[in-house]
Amino acid sequence: METNMDKELSSIFVIFGGTGDLTKRKLIPAIFSLMYEEKLPENFTIVAIGRREKTNEEYREEMRSSVEKFSRFSLNDYLWLKFSKRIFYKNFDFTSDNQGYADLDLFLEKMEIRYLTGGKRLYYLAVAPEFFEGIIRNLKNNGMVSRAIGWQRIMIEKPFGSSLETARILNHNISKLVPEEDLFRIDHYLGKEMIQNILAIRFGNSLFEPLWNANHIDNIQITSNELLGVESRGAYYENAGILKDMLQNHILQMLTMIAMEPPIDFEPESIRDEKVKVLRSLRPFTAETFKENIVRGQYGAGEIEDAKVIAYREENRVSKASNTDTFIALKTYIDNFRWGGVPIYIRAGKRMNNKSTEIVIQFKKLPGINYYKEFDNISHNLLVLKIQPEEGFFFQINAKQPGSEFKMEKVQLDYCQSCRALNDSPEAYERLILEAIRNNSSLFTRWDELQYSWQFVESIEKQYENNIPTCPNYSAGTSGPKEAIDLIENDGRQWWNTASD
Ligand code: BG6
Repeated sequence: METNMDKELSSIFVIFGGTGDLTKRKLIPAIFSLMYEEKLPENFTIVAIGRREKTNEEYREEMRSSVEKFSRFSLNDYLWLKFSKRIFYKNFDFTSDNQGYADLDLFLEKMEIRYLTGGKRLYYLAVAPEFFEGIIRNLKNNGMVSRAIGWQRIMIEKPFGSSLETARILNHNISKLVPEEDLFRIDHYLGKEMIQNILAIRFGNSLFEPLWNANHIDNIQITSNELLGVESRGAYYENAGILKDMLQNHILQMLTMIAMEPPIDFEPESIRDEKVKVLRSLRPFTAETFKENIVRGQYGAGEIEDAKVIAYREENRVSKASNTDTFIALKTYIDNFRWGGVPIYIRAGKRMNNKSTEIVIQFKKLPGINYYKEFDNISHNLLVLKIQPEEGFFFQINAKQPGSEFKMEKVQLDYCQSCRALNDSPEAYERLILEAIRNNSSLFTRWDELQYSWQFVESIEKQYENNIPTCPNYSAGTSGPKEAIDLIENDGRQWWNTASD
């Protein structure tokens, strides 16, 4: 019997870039998990599009090994049969072949009749950004979006543009083809369990929100360390660097969740309205502020987990003289009433000494009380949000050491989400796909968020020409250039990173 959930969610998921890495590593395993957990109805159908010739069977076999490798649930023949019979492969050159779109539309219509999906289609553009506009134009020209039945939504992978100007042009052009409410621009960090949890921790506890401002918070730190290098993406990374690959999107998105005002409700537009205000309040960099407050870095050869790794300049499709950053550390401010004067320290890097993403809220110390000499040198209160790989958070407070002496020590009230019995947080892509089908756009970036984050990032990029570091300036497997440590220590503070403590 068809339930309401079936009616709402039954749809066709059309993947442009069906043979690409993202599809294999993330999309197909994510949909498998959703089916496994019965979050999608049985008539949910996948149509993957690629330029290579393949039969449905060949494609399904390839996807089987992806699911085996990357899904968080184990596969058996029964499950595979159930899942794979809903996967279809269509081969055509989506960059030029107009007839291919007409054929695809016919094929999708047949599927709609066969599987009763009611005209609901989610197009996922898992392709290089230069193809976004062309695909959307072809969909429009062939009457495959804004149809009279069901809904048709488009999920767009990052990067959305490569500069403010190109992002603007892209947005201008595609917004003439599809309404904003049908566009779902992905930032997969918004699908991460602990990023979602920020809203719960901030707005669900009487403890934090009254202290969540410049009166009580000394500084905010965001650290995003990766062990991986650029892998096979040298050509893309040469143009992006860490600035556009991580800061412009994932890191600024995390910052907006930490710094935004409470939204009037949890409707997508209410949340996004508040996030935009944070981005608009970010203090842009100038030639003067750049020098003191930004450290650029690029990795040299080194060792990661006991294995030797090559320098960035030796990576495939990277120039031997490249000055592209694989690391950045910076100090900035959010110039609004809540955050005026609170430094925000950010650092992100590839080929670091650990894999960890953490957000640290460091509270101000109590004013010193002279005759409490036992309280000399007590630690700051910290709220540490562990985004990944371990998920959870802890609150560091001071307490008396047990014993006859009155000595203070720091203790941690620890919530380990990853340790919970039966814990298995959904992968970011599972949540994003499901929420796009449910039409919840709060997990996706609105155009004005992108616009202001590009503006901030460009204020940094403008200064690059006059501030080229000696490359490489940190060895793979370390905590980055020494200047990044100085950046915070010169302010009498330190980086907190529990993964390396
Ligand atoms: C991607 C970047 O958006 O995010 C990659 O392009 C980066 O360079 C990745 O490695 C990090 O994602 P996660 O989920 O592994 O932290």
